[in-house]
Formats: sequence, structure tokens, C-alpha cells
Amino acid sequence: MNSNFAQTDSTACLVSPTVAPLEGEFLKLGIMASGSGSNFEAVAEAIASLQLKAQLQVLIYNNPGIKACARAEKWGVPAVLHNHRDYKKRETLDAKIVQTLQQHEVNCVVMAGWMRLVTPVLIEAFPDRIVNIHPSLLPSFKGVRAVEQALEAGVKIAGCTVHLVRLEVDSGPILVQAAIPVLPDDTPETLHARIQIQEHRILPQALVQLAAGCFRNKL
Ligand code: GRF
Repeated sequence: MNSNFAQTDSTACLVSPTVAPLEGEFLKLGIMASGSGSNFEAVAEAIASLQLKAQLQVLIYNNPGIKACARAEKWGVPAVLHNHRDYKKRETLDAKIVQTLQQHEVNCVVMAGWMRLVTPVLIEAFPDRIVNIHPSLLPSFKGVRAVEQALEAGVKIAGCTVHLVRLEVDSGPILVQAAIPVLPDDTPETLHARIQIQEHRILPQALVQLAAGCFRNKL
């Protein structure tokens, strides 16, 4: 079996085959979240279990009262609210976000359910150091309602993608993907729940490999 291809019961995960190290940089992570933060939690657990050598520097969130914030508190991670409603321009919000990330000495940014478009202000401050997790097998079903789009299209295989962030939404180089079957009775909720199980697996995995330099040819 190809060593880059890992398979479990109903899932398959294809990993970029390159292996050049990125000088083993210790990841100081800043996570951006708009909702539940289950991916934040998955990263925190991967760090706690020593699967991922990294430190969670800060959670940035834009919706007051979200569960991600409570999760950050539980893990002792500073949580900073940047409410997009307080900013007229996306660039001004992003400049504030960059400032917070830099204040917390972040060297890698994870958009884990960050439901806002980002601008060059953020992307250029962390070149090739921003990853996003998306609940589809990109390049299919970009943007919001990805799971609903997949069901409406009648696909039989769904999944999730970790990729580097570029200006165009959900378009950057793909780092890791996981695939799962769509079941006949799936609703958006049931399918998304199974996709999220895979997200919680491949997001830490992508960060481990990013830190090891496995994606150097994509940077
Ligand atoms: C995930 O499904 C992710 O793919 C999408 O937003 C969702 C965030 O979930 N971008 P959570 O807040 O991490 O639980």
C-alpha cells in the first residue's frame, strides 16, 4: 500500500507526499473561530496528548457568547473578541486581528470555522502560515452551506479539507483531505457530524505535518 495513503473503516485520508522539513519550527498557534470551536478543542487535545508539538497562544472570535470562547477558558487559552459588527471595513477588522496575533507571538494561524471573508491585510501578515478547515472535498462545494451543497448535488462521497488560505475563498493549496461515504438517509446535520469527526482528526494531523515541513513544496 502507498505509505502516503492511510485508510480506516470507512474513511480515507490522502496526504501530500513531500517530506522536506521546515526547520522544525515550534508552532505557536492562533485560532480564529466563529462558532462551536470543536476544531479548537481537537487541536487543544492533540497538544495535550503530545500528538502535536505546539502551543495555543490565543483564540480570536467574532461572535459574543459562542461555545469556542468557553472552550478556550477551559483550556486556559486567552480569548479575544473582535466583533466584526464593530468594524465598517474588513481590512480594519483584519488589521486588529493581525495586531492581536502578533501581540500573542503567533507564527501559524488556524481558521477553524471562521465565517468571515479575509483580506490581504491578514493573508500578507502571515504568508503561507494560515490554514483553514472546510467541510467538503475541495475544490468541490466552496463557500457556505458546503454540506448542503454536497447533499443537493447527490454526491456519494463527502469529506473535509485542510488547506492554506489564499484570497479566493476556499482555494489555497490542499494539505490533507478525508473522505467519508454519504448515507442514503443523511441530512445536513448527520453528514456534517460525521465530517466533523474527520475534521478533528485531519486538522491536528495537518499541523503536525506543517511543523515537520511535509508541505514545503506547497509554501
Ligand atoms: C467546521 O465544519 C469547519 O469545517 C467549518 O466550520 C465548522 C466549524 O466547526 N469551516 P467548529 O466550530 O470547529 O465546531
